[in-house]
Amino acid sequence: MNKLIIVSNRLPVKAIPRGNSFHLVPTEGGLSTGLKSSSGSDSEECWIGWPGISNREQPVKDELNKQLEQLHLHPVFLSEKDKKNYYEGFSNCTIWPLFHYFPCYTHFDDVEWESYQKVNDQFCMEVLKIAEDNDTVWVHDYHLMLLPALLKKKKPSLKVGFFLHIPFPSYEIFRMLPWASQILDGISSADLIGFHTEAYRKYFHECQEKIRKSGDNISTPRNTGVFPMSINFDKFNKTSKSPEIKAIERKYRMRFKDQKIILSVDRLDYTKGILHRLYAFERFLEQNPKYVGNVKLVMLVVPSRTNVGNYRELKNHLEGELGRINGRFSHFGNIPIHYFYRSLPFNELVGLYKAADIALVTPLRDGMNLVAKEYVATKGKGKGVLILSKFAGAAYELNAAIKVNPFDENAMAQAIKEAVEQDEAEQEKRMRAMRRTIKINNVDHWKFSFLNRLNGINSRKAPPK
Ligand code: UDP
Ligand code: G6P
Repeated sequence: MNKLIIVSNRLPVKAIPRGNSFHLVPTEGGLSTGLKSSSGSDSEECWIGWPGISNREQPVKDELNKQLEQLHLHPVFLSEKDKKNYYEGFSNCTIWPLFHYFPCYTHFDDVEWESYQKVNDQFCMEVLKIAEDNDTVWVHDYHLMLLPALLKKKKPSLKVGFFLHIPFPSYEIFRMLPWASQILDGISSADLIGFHTEAYRKYFHECQEKIRKSGDNISTPRNTGVFPMSINFDKFNKTSKSPEIKAIERKYRMRFKDQKIILSVDRLDYTKGILHRLYAFERFLEQNPKYVGNVKLVMLVVPSRTNVGNYRELKNHLEGELGRINGRFSHFGNIPIHYFYRSLPFNELVGLYKAADIALVTPLRDGMNLVAKEYVATKGKGKGVLILSKFAGAAYELNAAIKVNPFDENAMAQAIKEAVEQDEAEQEKRMRAMRRTIKINNVDHWKFSFLNRLNGINSRKAPPK
């Protein structure tokens, strides 16, 4: 039987050294939380990726290999240098900021580009160690955009799919990349390329066309499609009704008795609009003094990419502003913003979603945003309001949310007021509509729509130029 080989930069678990072995903890971020919660396909499945550690002695690697093998996971070990240049550098200081429309945070560095090419080669070798003729390889995300072409060149019989979990930017942004043609060429060799939204797909084709017209010889993409990623709706829905979650919900409700809870959950990332959100909440309190003391903002901020300068600076800035706003509006024992800098176990997170009256999901730019969908999936009784940025991929599907422009502080403050005051009948009506959408368009729908389409395609040898 043919295998399905999933390849992403990170494995769905991170290895934390503990004595002579490793403790495996779940990886945060939508790619991993979403994909790992999907059902298995008919094929044998395995996953290739980085376990989060670098530069280890062979016996240590062997031990980790043994632990991961039982989970059908295959580690790719990065050197310290490649972690710095390929992961922190090219992936997270070039592609990530540029594709999220932050050219001011983007740098272009030859050494990092070389390391990106080298690590894509390394992933290719790892895939080829286990791939047999006619296996399907599903490559994920911006770290591995050269991999489809490398695989097709080395083993044309493989069926190769590629899915981009972040936005594909417009031509005016994309053309800034000195290696734009190489990146397009790398992706375009895949038999099927998937995006979250029609806009991202359209921009990809536009870039293809314009770069080709400029004289660069790049492969023609064969098949592209729109597959909005989603969550395991049933898992969130069912878990949210369990006695354990009800107890966690009660704990938060008691803590914030007679108060409205506004919740935000993100990795600490400048694309998530965390500072803009804080300022909007401050504006809301300023304009509506009657709500000071009885509307609380609970911010769960998950540590992310802590070696990258912009992320460290954002943390300092955020914590300074949090302190200032809390200092401005606090009374004894009553602070307006509760801030947690950590990740929470799944049940605690579901309990928090369940307790929250409002979810404030306001990224400046986001490929999809699964947090918005997870919040909706826990609201079985239909109460709860979702405020959602127009710049998140999820906004194309969740039409019944209160949509906001996260750059417009006044409109955001107004949206918070509207959410706080929305009556229960309206909440239920909107929540019902959003839940219907996510129940049908769940993560299995995403995975199998992509794979069925890929399976129906005859893989080709070399893509035409
Ligand atoms: N998440 C998590 N632990 C936490 C908080 C959040 O694993 O303490 C998960 C959350 O459930 C969601 C993911 O992190 O599935 C974030 O995905 P999203 O698409 O919203 O953003 P991304 O981090 O991929 O940019
Ligand atoms: C986003 C990306 C993923 C990435 C995740 C966490 O969801 O699309 O590819 O894994 O963020 O980021 P990290 O840098 O910790 O892998």
